Amino acid sequence: MTKVIKNGTIVTADRTYKADILIEGETIKQIGADLKGDETIDAEGAYVIPGGIDPHTHMEMPFMGTTAAETFETGTWAAACGGTTMTIDFVLPGADGSIKNAINEWHRKSGPQICSDIGFHCAVTGWNESIFNEMKDAVDMGVNSFKHFMAYKGALMIEDDEMFASFKRCKELGALPMVHAENGDLVADMQQQMLEQGITGPEGHAYSRPPEFEGEAANRAITIADAAGVPLYIVHVSCEQAHEAIRRARQKGMRVYGEPLAQFLTLDESEYFNTDWDHAARRVMSPPFRNKQHQDSLWAGLQAGSLQVVATDHAAFSTEQKRMGVDDFTKIPNGSNGLEERLGVLWTQGVETGRLTMNEFVAVTSSNVAKILNIYPRKGAIVEGADADLVVWDPSITKTISASNHHSILDYNVFEGFEVTAQPRYTLSRGEVIWAWGQNSQPQPGRGKFVPRPAFPSAHAALSKWKALTAPKQIHRDPLNIPSGV
Ligand code: URP
Ligand code: ZN
Ligand code: ZN
Ligand code: ZN
Repeated sequence: MTKVIKNGTIVTADRTYKADILIEGETIKQIGADLKGDETIDAEGAYVIPGGIDPHTHMEMPFMGTTAAETFETGTWAAACGGTTMTIDFVLPGADGSIKNAINEWHRKSGPQICSDIGFHCAVTGWNESIFNEMKDAVDMGVNSFKHFMAYKGALMIEDDEMFASFKRCKELGALPMVHAENGDLVADMQQQMLEQGITGPEGHAYSRPPEFEGEAANRAITIADAAGVPLYIVHVSCEQAHEAIRRARQKGMRVYGEPLAQFLTLDESEYFNTDWDHAARRVMSPPFRNKQHQDSLWAGLQAGSLQVVATDHAAFSTEQKRMGVDDFTKIPNGSNGLEERLGVLWTQGVETGRLTMNEFVAVTSSNVAKILNIYPRKGAIVEGADADLVVWDPSITKTISASNHHSILDYNVFEGFEVTAQPRYTLSRGEVIWAWGQNSQPQPGRGKFVPRPAFPSAHAALSKWKALTAPKQIHRDPLNIPSGV
């Protein structure tokens, strides 16, 4: 059974050209002119892009005394409706602290539900011998990136010496360390100060997490990664201070990656000063939204290449869950939505404004993610042999984002009212059309697959080689050469 996508303009991270794409089963068989297949998918007037990959989601995540409302089914379905065909979700170890058990638990929860493909990162939230050992098990299970929380004191936060030990273990295993960069000690103190001053509303969340706290932690994590000799991925970069740290590190030859979020690029801190408590609380996430100058910095970073990928950190808590913090902003579950909106918002506010080229758009939403996370070109590319995760991206479909028409389980949408100027006409996951605009497509839970990611991406090996070459070396001296009379 073959399909051909006809009459479209293929847009990849490095090329824009007219060609048909022949799909056989789950993969791309051929790219060229006048191809024929058993079925035809029309892409006239549209672009054909690699399916989006969201490198940062939290579906059904147990967090801050509750569990994220978005299920693996609704999350991966919403993603597909917005043109994202793969999500990388964060596994959090449970009460027993076991990484292996946590990964198995994520498989158990996600397997029957996912509508498109998934991969996992895993959090390292402490340090002991079994974590050291189980990091190897995780890599063997296809989970080769580990997130370290420098914030959430008293819960997920890890200390510097533990982080250093874990980063060194990542280097040995060919795994990628990731950090949530905020100074958790300072945040905890500032939160208390805010509460003591009677600032109990969501504005206190923003005040207690200034950009300096993020920049400091980003610099610290970069220093620790450099000392360990391992690349570093900084998640949810929200501000110039963290971006500056990344930029400077990269300019010195360090392998550091930065991930701004679609929310950070388009929504700002004024949301927290909204007099409607629910409105403000729904946007509480860490780090918080920043001002326009920070947004400009993030856009410039995507243009310059100092920031590489755009994620959502989709952690969807309902209004009712957000109200857990009605008297105390520190109890508002942290997280916001964006999985379905990421491509449309980034296209409209990035490509349509000239801030990004179409090729840069593809790079930051798909190809760069696949390269950094070592699944390229199986994912993130339009080449023969790649998985046929493809989106027929139609710049003539406009939509007003709203909770009333989105596919997320959430009762609100932080992008409510945003006009987007392109949407998927078709979304294909491994060759199957799973979403068609205006055709009442339905979710197909369980058809998604877990995609194991191999260790030792090329940047890792290159850095190890360079570190070995430039490592401190003992100077051998002949003691008999000591000048006489000394
Ligand atoms: O506020 C956020 N970002 N919630 C999700 C957990 C995390 O820190 O990534
Ligand atoms: Zn500390
Ligand atoms: Zn985080
Ligand atoms: Zn996150």
